[in-house]
Amino acid sequence: IPAGTDLLEEINRLRKERNAVILAHYYQRPELQDLADFVGDSLELSKKAAETDADVIAFCGVKFMAETAKILSPEKIVVLPDMEAGCSLEDSCPPEKFAAFRERHPDHIALTYINCSTEVKALSDVIVTSSSAETILSQIPRDQKIIFGPDRHLGGYLNRKFDRDMLLWPGVCIVHEAFSERELMKLMQANPGAPVAAHPECPPNIIDHADYVGSTSGILNFAKTFPGDTLIVATEPHIIHQMEKAIPEKTFLGAPGADGNCNCNICPYMALNTMEKLYLCLRDLEPRIEIEEQLRLDAKRSLDKMLEMAA
Ligand code: 13P
Ligand code: SF4
Repeated sequence: IPAGTDLLEEINRLRKERNAVILAHYYQRPELQDLADFVGDSLELSKKAAETDADVIAFCGVKFMAETAKILSPEKIVVLPDMEAGCSLEDSCPPEKFAAFRERHPDHIALTYINCSTEVKALSDVIVTSSSAETILSQIPRDQKIIFGPDRHLGGYLNRKFDRDMLLWPGVCIVHEAFSERELMKLMQANPGAPVAAHPECPPNIIDHADYVGSTSGILNFAKTFPGDTLIVATEPHIIHQMEKAIPEKTFLGAPGADGNCNCNICPYMALNTMEKLYLCLRDLEPRIEIEEQLRLDAKRSLDKMLEMAA
């Protein structure tokens, strides 16, 4: 990139030239959220990707999100600024092991969190996101046996809330796993009365302190409506950018990790995407998501089921 390049200007020029739409997740760096055409949670981003009439989708998020966009919009070019932007939940669930797990439980259906590979989606019956999981689970008969993967904390939360006994795959999100209950309690003591909003990927000892539990968009809505002036936010701290923009007069505190600050809860995969890499992927139309057609169709079944049941 030549020295002195105005990246924002170049990104704006290229997005017109390419007829590209830029989608960003709430965990992206503020500058990427600010330039995106749409910022949202996993479900909203999937819907946008399915609906757009752009020729190119530049996905500022992680790989499973960009793959979801490609599964739903195969005729579009989907680029991800950094192909290394993975997810610890996806890594925890290799398709061969997941297939073997399914085979051991032939009378169970697989309800699967969207944070997984395309191969695992293809092995699943219904996909859920954190914002659609409750609606979808409540439509599944109580006597239906279910395996839920790969996030055992989201699965455990749903089991407790709906009194179900889904069999859980043992994956975790390294980001939400890093919150410290001890440090959270100190922060709560220092801010008496401040509610806590938590993502269901948090372990139960964090969820137990939460006044609100929901997806990133759910947490953002809670931040816009809670009656107090300070909110403790137990999810990836980049979402606080949207809260500060929407309600600048209120205070939003990221829940801490063991070192007492919230920087250790930055998602290292999401953080790989930068302005430079977004510019380069719009310029070169690389790195590009490609999915073998039969695999795509197999994965699309469980995703379509989610879109149908979440509606
Ligand atoms: P949502 O935005 O769907 O709540 O998901 C959070 C997340 O961890 C995405 O990786
Ligand atoms: Fe995966 Fe956790 Fe990062 Fe979300 S925050 S992309 S679940 S590692």
